[in-house]
Amino acid sequence: MPEAVANIGVVGLAVMGSNLARNLASREGNTVAVFNRSPERTRTLVTEHPEAGFVAAESYDEFVASLATPRTAIIMVQAGRGTDAVISELVSRFEPGDIIVDGGNANFHDTIRREGEISPTGIHFVGTGISGGEEGALNGPSIMPGGTAESYETLGPILETIAARAPEDGAPCVTHVGTDGAGHFVKMVHNGIEYADMQLIAEAYDLIRQGTGKSPAEIADIFAEWNTGELESYLIEITAEVLRQVDADTGAPLVDVILDSAGAKGTGAWTVQNALDLGVPVSGIAEAVFARSLSSQRAQREAAASLPGPDGGWVVADADAFIEDVRQALYASKIIAYSQGFDEIIAGAAQFGWDVKKGDIARIWRAGCIIRARFLNRIADAYAEDPELVALVVAPYFRDAVAGAQQAWRRVVVAAAQAGIPAPAFASSLAYYDGLRAERLPAALVQGQRDFFGAHTYQRVDKPGVFHTLWSGDRSEIETTPSSH
Ligand code: 6PG
Repeated sequence: MPEAVANIGVVGLAVMGSNLARNLASREGNTVAVFNRSPERTRTLVTEHPEAGFVAAESYDEFVASLATPRTAIIMVQAGRGTDAVISELVSRFEPGDIIVDGGNANFHDTIRREGEISPTGIHFVGTGISGGEEGALNGPSIMPGGTAESYETLGPILETIAARAPEDGAPCVTHVGTDGAGHFVKMVHNGIEYADMQLIAEAYDLIRQGTGKSPAEIADIFAEWNTGELESYLIEITAEVLRQVDADTGAPLVDVILDSAGAKGTGAWTVQNALDLGVPVSGIAEAVFARSLSSQRAQREAAASLPGPDGGWVVADADAFIEDVRQALYASKIIAYSQGFDEIIAGAAQFGWDVKKGDIARIWRAGCIIRARFLNRIADAYAEDPELVALVVAPYFRDAVAGAQQAWRRVVVAAAQAGIPAPAFASSLAYYDGLRAERLPAALVQGQRDFFGAHTYQRVDKPGVFHTLWSGDRSEIETTPSSH
């Protein structure tokens, strides 16, 4: 059996796992044990990267024996049953104080369940969000570990050696997010915000393409220009790259030969499902998820193609002015998407008993992760200024930013509607903003309707209490107790 020399181990050596293992091995002070169910992968990794000094194991017994205590192993396998299989192999060999880390995109409910099942053994189970894709895993991801504070005493310093560094201050993009499933919950919300961000960028591209007739390469230049200002971010940067790409086979812009049917592995849907359960309106994120679903409804789209409506030929009068309007609408809608995402983090923390520091989350998202963006510094500043901020959008910086953009935002939503171009994320974000700031909402009428058909009762603006109108009687109002159904 090998000597217990490794301070960290990785199980699952597909690209993400291999890259994470290489990243760990490249950092001072780490000796990395590696194991993969099919040993060929392990041998390939060790052969291709002798400089890593991996401690290769071809069985779980060898892998566990090569770990120094407290044994710490990161599982990097496809979320789901595969994770449970690896967990049970490690739990049967680990001892109290050892640490099992799940680095996959697991559902946080599974992580809470797993942590509850494992913690009585004295072994720590840590669900960890790892963002940044294969490149991030190799060169520096943003890392969102949950689990016990005790486990973070060992795990944190190791993760800090591999995390991305924020450009502003060099701080490692990792923090102990909160207990049990908090890490995977925050990673889930990160992905939901990612969906919204991507959808907003796609709508901005579509509006400019259709409204000005500019080519993908010309629009790439516009995004590259935007990336030098407040919209600076990884997603804006890669959008310019994707739009510049020319298809080798046809010579056409690649974006024009890609089938317009978006996939999704599920984390965006989880964000919306949990937001519904938590009662948090994440309209921008939801519209982004639904836009992906709509895009893949091929039969419906073919059947609906002949439905009446504006069908192209739309040209804006002043292309430069419209492009600037779209830029402002994109920034305002992005602020709403992040504001809604942080609302869900606040609600999740309250529901599940986590002490999540919103400012810390914004800070560890400044580099390494897919939604990394300059304006995350502004979010961190806002929460530093007021940790109990009720909504990001009312923080002075964001209030002023949206105030300056909202006329452009409205012009873009109107133009899209009149041109018959779908802009669900732009439009729902504006509706959310107007809903949030409205003095009176038509929810009053909804309450009246509910009381009419279901005696669900209502409150009044002019006096405390709960009331019901006797709709089927003399329509007098009675004071009552809150409806139980
Ligand atoms: C990240 C990404 C990643 C995401 C995949 C698939 O943070 O590195 O969010 O975790 O799961 O990119 O995302 P889809 O849900 O769009 O398939």
